[in-house]
Amino acid sequence: MIGIFDSGVGGMTVARAIEQLFPALPYIYFGDLAHSPYGSKSREMLIEYSRRNTEFLLTQGAKIIVIACNSASSTASGTLRERYPLPIIDVISPAVRKAAQLSQNGRIGLIGTRATVHSGVYARQLKEIRPECDLYTQACPLLVPLVEEGWLNRRETKMIVRKYLRPLRDQQIDTLILGCTHYPLLSKTIVPRIGKRVHIIDSSVEVALHLKTVLEKDNRLYTSLLAPEVKSKYFVSDLSSPVQSLAMSIFGRSVHLEKINV
Ligand code: DGL
Repeated sequence: MIGIFDSGVGGMTVARAIEQLFPALPYIYFGDLAHSPYGSKSREMLIEYSRRNTEFLLTQGAKIIVIACNSASSTASGTLRERYPLPIIDVISPAVRKAAQLSQNGRIGLIGTRATVHSGVYARQLKEIRPECDLYTQACPLLVPLVEEGWLNRRETKMIVRKYLRPLRDQQIDTLILGCTHYPLLSKTIVPRIGKRVHIIDSSVEVALHLKTVLEKDNRLYTSLLAPEVKSKYFVSDLSSPVQSLAMSIFGRSVHLEKINV
């Protein structure tokens, strides 16, 4: 099993991208809705939640962990890798690599939660790959609650998105990293407001492609994950009706979300 976790529904965009690439690989998804949003939590709490989430996924038989959350990836991935002897994939490096590859003018924008933006991890990784690039960041703390409420097409959401993106537009970025796994759900609102010529980096797609590279290099791991007769499972630490319907619209089918205490 692949173990995937996020603070809520955002990581389902990653799960969906993974199942599209690997229909025969079952996964266990955990959305820590009881502690969502992660983006406004302290580093200590994010490490603690990420540790608990990983322990839970391990008890369910995960052989590889995908941290499908930028806030957790940017603060806790190092600690998790030190503590657990299994492959751990984060959402940040695949997106940074893609942005570095696509940007022509070297002006890259990043939107994310406060935790992600303040961690500085995107800027550090980008400098290592393309030192001449500049990263322009914007924390967007209101977007995760709007997504979790299902307010994807509301006028208020469009106004807030426009306000958040204006400084990045003014910087004439040519590439925008959606540095939060909830944001692909807002891409129809984001694209016209940042400009159609700006490349949009959706980390869910990049993570799935990165997983493909990892599994191509490690056939033993790939074989250990194969279980065509086993179905993917979805767990959450709290459950509300908008979340149920968002899950349905992400996967295009109804998914059973099981509430558990982690
Ligand atoms: N979707 C997550 C991220 O990528 C978490 C957002 C949040 O809970 O604040 O950062």
